Amino acid sequence: MKTLIVFSTKYGAAQKCAEILKKGLDHEVNLVNLRNSKPINLKNYDNVILGGSVYVGKIQKEITQFVDENKNDLQSKKIGLFVCCKFSGDRAMEQITNNLPEWVVNKAFAKEHLGHELSLEKMSFMDKLITKSVVKVKESYSDLKTENINRLINKINGLDGVSG
Ligand SMILES: Cc1cc2nc3c(=O)[nH]c(=O)nc-3n(C[C@H](O)[C@H](O)[C@H](O)COP(=O)(O)O)c2cc1C
Repeated sequence: MKTLIVFSTKYGAAQKCAEILKKGLDHEVNLVNLRNSKPINLKNYDNVILGGSVYVGKIQKEITQFVDENKNDLQSKKIGLFVCCKFSGDRAMEQITNNLPEWVVNKAFAKEHLGHELSLEKMSFMDKLITKSVVKVKESYSDLKTENINRLINKINGLDGVSG
Protein backbone atom coordinates (compact mmCIF):
# COMPACT_ATOMS: atom_id res chain seq x y z
CA MET A 1 0.00 0.00 0.00
CA LYS A 2 1.25 3.47 -0.87
CA THR A 3 -0.11 6.80 0.40
CA LEU A 4 0.29 10.33 -0.87
CA ILE A 5 -0.37 13.19 1.54
CA VAL A 6 -1.06 16.38 -0.35
CA PHE A 7 -1.30 19.53 1.72
CA SER A 8 -1.31 23.28 1.60
CA THR A 9 -0.29 25.47 4.49
CA LYS A 10 0.31 29.15 5.19
CA TYR A 11 2.22 29.01 8.49
CA GLY A 12 3.08 25.33 8.86
CA ALA A 13 0.33 23.70 10.94
CA ALA A 14 -1.01 21.54 8.10
CA GLN A 15 2.55 20.55 7.19
CA LYS A 16 3.25 19.55 10.79
CA CYS A 17 0.11 17.38 10.74
CA ALA A 18 1.14 15.79 7.43
CA GLU A 19 4.56 14.95 8.90
CA ILE A 20 3.03 13.43 12.07
CA LEU A 21 0.67 11.35 9.91
CA LYS A 22 3.61 10.11 7.83
CA LYS A 23 5.49 9.02 10.98
CA GLY A 24 2.48 7.04 12.17
CA LEU A 25 1.80 5.22 8.92
CA ASP A 26 3.11 1.70 8.51
CA HIS A 27 3.79 1.81 4.75
CA GLU A 28 5.38 3.97 2.05
CA VAL A 29 4.21 7.60 2.26
CA ASN A 30 5.11 10.66 0.20
CA LEU A 31 4.33 14.24 1.18
CA VAL A 32 3.62 17.00 -1.29
CA ASN A 33 3.31 20.67 -0.39
CA LEU A 34 1.07 22.09 -3.11
CA ARG A 35 2.57 25.54 -2.70
CA ASN A 36 5.91 24.41 -4.11
CA SER A 37 5.24 21.22 -6.01
CA LYS A 38 5.76 20.05 -9.56
CA PRO A 39 2.91 18.19 -11.31
CA ILE A 40 2.11 15.03 -9.36
CA ASN A 41 1.60 11.60 -10.87
CA LEU A 42 -1.07 9.84 -8.81
CA LYS A 43 -0.73 6.56 -10.70
CA ASN A 44 1.32 4.69 -8.12
CA TYR A 45 -0.75 5.59 -5.07
CA ASP A 46 -3.58 3.66 -3.44
CA ASN A 47 -4.55 6.40 -1.01
CA VAL A 48 -4.56 10.18 -1.33
CA ILE A 49 -4.90 12.27 1.83
CA LEU A 50 -5.76 15.92 1.24
CA GLY A 51 -5.17 18.50 3.94
CA GLY A 52 -5.35 22.25 4.19
CA SER A 53 -5.99 25.06 6.59
CA VAL A 54 -8.86 27.53 6.70
CA TYR A 55 -8.61 31.31 6.34
CA VAL A 56 -11.79 33.38 6.59
CA GLY A 57 -13.92 30.34 5.88
CA LYS A 58 -11.90 29.12 2.89
CA ILE A 59 -9.52 26.20 2.41
CA GLN A 60 -6.48 27.16 0.33
CA LYS A 61 -7.30 27.33 -3.38
CA GLU A 62 -4.40 24.95 -4.14
CA ILE A 63 -6.44 22.15 -2.56
CA THR A 64 -9.62 22.81 -4.55
CA GLN A 65 -7.55 23.25 -7.73
CA PHE A 66 -5.78 19.95 -7.10
CA VAL A 67 -9.13 18.18 -6.67
CA ASP A 68 -10.50 19.70 -9.89
CA GLU A 69 -7.38 19.00 -11.93
CA ASN A 70 -7.09 15.38 -10.75
CA LYS A 71 -10.77 14.50 -10.72
CA ASN A 72 -10.39 11.49 -13.02
CA ASP A 73 -7.37 9.96 -11.28
CA LEU A 74 -8.89 10.52 -7.83
CA GLN A 75 -11.95 8.41 -8.67
CA SER A 76 -9.95 5.20 -8.21
CA LYS A 77 -8.20 6.28 -4.98
CA LYS A 78 -9.13 5.98 -1.37
CA ILE A 79 -9.41 9.58 -0.23
CA GLY A 80 -8.99 11.03 3.24
CA LEU A 81 -9.54 14.69 4.14
CA PHE A 82 -8.21 16.81 6.99
CA VAL A 83 -8.32 20.44 7.97
CA CYS A 84 -6.40 22.58 10.39
CA CYS A 85 -8.64 25.34 11.67
CA LYS A 86 -9.68 27.11 14.85
CA PHE A 87 -13.30 25.98 14.76
CA SER A 88 -13.86 22.41 15.88
CA GLY A 89 -16.68 19.86 15.79
CA ASP A 90 -19.53 20.53 13.36
CA ARG A 91 -18.14 23.93 12.37
CA ALA A 92 -14.84 22.38 11.32
CA MET A 93 -16.73 19.71 9.33
CA GLU A 94 -18.80 22.46 7.67
CA GLN A 95 -15.59 24.12 6.56
CA ILE A 96 -14.62 20.86 4.84
CA THR A 97 -18.00 20.28 3.21
CA ASN A 98 -18.48 23.93 2.15
CA ASN A 99 -15.08 24.15 0.49
CA LEU A 100 -14.73 20.89 -1.42
CA PRO A 101 -16.86 19.37 -4.19
CA GLU A 102 -19.63 17.10 -2.95
CA TRP A 103 -18.27 14.04 -4.78
CA VAL A 104 -14.93 14.20 -2.95
CA VAL A 105 -16.59 14.77 0.44
CA ASN A 106 -18.90 11.79 -0.17
CA LYS A 107 -16.08 9.58 -1.42
CA ALA A 108 -13.79 10.30 1.54
CA PHE A 109 -13.30 7.40 3.99
CA ALA A 110 -12.26 9.93 6.66
CA LYS A 111 -12.79 13.61 7.38
CA GLU A 112 -10.83 14.88 10.36
CA HIS A 113 -10.18 18.16 12.10
CA LEU A 114 -6.56 17.91 13.30
CA GLY A 115 -6.53 21.07 15.42
CA HIS A 116 -4.78 24.34 14.75
CA GLU A 117 -1.86 26.61 15.51
CA LEU A 118 -1.59 30.38 15.64
CA SER A 119 2.02 31.38 15.01
CA LEU A 120 2.10 35.17 15.38
CA GLU A 121 5.82 35.42 14.68
CA LYS A 122 5.36 33.86 11.22
CA MET A 123 2.26 35.88 10.21
CA SER A 124 1.90 38.65 7.67
CA PHE A 125 1.06 42.07 9.06
CA MET A 126 -2.66 41.68 8.17
CA ASP A 127 -3.01 38.16 9.58
CA LYS A 128 -1.31 39.25 12.80
CA LEU A 129 -3.63 42.25 13.05
CA ILE A 130 -6.73 40.06 12.56
CA THR A 131 -5.45 37.50 15.06
CA LYS A 132 -4.76 40.12 17.71
CA SER A 133 -7.74 42.42 17.19
CA VAL A 134 -10.54 40.11 15.97
CA VAL A 135 -9.60 36.71 17.42
CA LYS A 136 -8.09 38.43 20.50
CA VAL A 137 -5.13 36.08 20.60
CA LYS A 138 -1.95 37.83 21.74
CA GLU A 139 0.49 34.91 21.94
CA SER A 140 1.35 32.03 19.65
CA TYR A 141 0.15 28.57 20.58
CA SER A 142 -0.29 25.08 19.18
CA ASP A 143 -3.46 23.05 19.69
CA LEU A 144 -3.08 20.00 17.49
CA LYS A 145 -5.52 17.21 18.32
CA THR A 146 -3.49 14.07 19.01
CA GLU A 147 -6.61 11.93 19.35
CA ASN A 148 -7.91 12.98 15.93
CA ILE A 149 -4.48 12.59 14.32
CA ASN A 150 -4.16 9.06 15.73
CA ARG A 151 -7.69 8.20 14.58
CA LEU A 152 -6.79 9.24 11.03
CA ILE A 153 -3.52 7.26 11.20
CA ASN A 154 -5.42 4.16 12.31
CA LYS A 155 -8.01 4.57 9.56
CA ILE A 156 -5.32 4.89 6.88
CA ASN A 157 -3.29 1.94 8.19
CA GLY A 158 -6.52 -0.09 8.25
CA LEU A 159 -7.15 0.46 4.53
CA ASP A 160 -4.83 -2.34 3.38
CA GLY A 161 -6.88 -4.78 1.35
CA VAL A 162 -9.97 -2.53 1.28
CA SER A 163 -11.06 -1.71 -2.28
CA GLY A 164 -11.33 1.93 -3.44
C1 LIG B 1 -6.23 35.62 9.41
C2 LIG B 1 -6.72 34.30 9.89
C3 LIG B 1 -8.00 33.85 9.54
C4 LIG B 1 -8.46 32.60 9.97
N1 LIG B 1 -9.73 32.20 9.62
C5 LIG B 1 -10.20 31.03 10.11
C6 LIG B 1 -11.53 30.61 9.80
O1 LIG B 1 -12.26 31.25 9.04
N2 LIG B 1 -11.97 29.45 10.36
C7 LIG B 1 -11.20 28.71 11.21
O2 LIG B 1 -11.69 27.71 11.73
N3 LIG B 1 -9.92 29.05 11.48
C8 LIG B 1 -9.41 30.19 10.95
N4 LIG B 1 -8.11 30.56 11.21
C9 LIG B 1 -7.23 29.66 11.96
C10 LIG B 1 -6.30 28.84 11.01
O3 LIG B 1 -7.06 27.98 10.20
C11 LIG B 1 -5.30 28.05 11.88
O4 LIG B 1 -4.43 28.97 12.47
C12 LIG B 1 -4.54 26.97 11.12
O5 LIG B 1 -3.87 26.15 12.05
C13 LIG B 1 -3.51 27.54 10.15
O6 LIG B 1 -2.84 26.47 9.54
P1 LIG B 1 -1.56 26.65 8.59
O7 LIG B 1 -0.43 27.13 9.46
O8 LIG B 1 -1.33 25.28 8.05
O9 LIG B 1 -1.94 27.61 7.50
C14 LIG B 1 -7.62 31.78 10.77
C15 LIG B 1 -6.33 32.23 11.11
C16 LIG B 1 -5.87 33.47 10.68
C17 LIG B 1 -4.47 33.91 11.05
